Amino acid sequence: MADHRSRFEHWDAAAWVRSKPRRTGVFVPGVHYFSPDLCPALRHPAVPPYSRERLLIHHLYLYLEFTVRLETGPVNEVCLLLRSPDFLPWLDSRMKDDALRIYTDEAGHAEMSHTLLASVRDRTGVRPVPHEPHFLRELAALCSETDLDPSLVKLFFVIVSETLITASLNRLPGDSRVQEQVRGLAIDHAADEGRHYAYFRELFEHLWPRLDPLVRQRIGVLLPRMMSAFLGTDEPALAAVLADCDVAEPASVAADVASARETLAFIREGARPTLRMFRRVGMFDDAVIADAFKELQ
Ligand SMILES: [Fe+2]
Ligand SMILES: [Fe+2]
Repeated sequence: MADHRSRFEHWDAAAWVRSKPRRTGVFVPGVHYFSPDLCPALRHPAVPPYSRERLLIHHLYLYLEFTVRLETGPVNEVCLLLRSPDFLPWLDSRMKDDALRIYTDEAGHAEMSHTLLASVRDRTGVRPVPHEPHFLRELAALCSETDLDPSLVKLFFVIVSETLITASLNRLPGDSRVQEQVRGLAIDHAADEGRHYAYFRELFEHLWPRLDPLVRQRIGVLLPRMMSAFLGTDEPALAAVLADCDVAEPASVAADVASARETLAFIREGARPTLRMFRRVGMFDDAVIADAFKELQ
């Protein structure tokens, strides 16, 4: 890995948590708390018009809570593993050093997401619905259903999450109908995540060829489920939100939203960079893995 060039060389000057001021400012009445374009549920006929802004606020909460739980959970767990000399001992020491920089970035993102959630809650009086995010349940299920090393499963789960480009990170910054503080957070977060993306892509490109072909196959067939865990609709959480928005039969409306054409288009859009990365290492030359990906391709 002599050619490795750290993406974190200028971290002190570039990272949100090291160099940028906190986004403060007032919430402007009449301006959305989340982008209507990112909320397919908004267009379901069962949602009463008077609940639409409340639904957008809840979508913001789901997005922020997702960030807090993902980044303080699996992502930072894996960053600590990566720093350890015993885990992937062949990894360039500069990449091991950078793992704690990512850890610090993610803790910062969790804090800024949590603080924004608390200020919106205080301002609007809308209380977030308590829920266990779907991706955490799916990670626990994946670890218990395989006899692969759980650290390896978690590592791939994080490689997937750090290389998917979610529609929220992509589109929130440009939507001028959304509160400035929400867009500002998305902009600052996306700037850091660009560096994380490059780091985890490089890590994946070194890791994949080193794995035994049988291990590769057993991991490979789990990857589509990992991608859906992040990109698909969290149906129980959405159903709880819809119930709080006076929607009748919230579970069946959540199921409609999960299978709506608009939702499936988001999944395909978000999956694209990760699929490209997988294709570059020849992952789909293995017919068993390629078959597992049929739905996502
Ligand atoms: Fe992050
Ligand atoms: Fe990240």
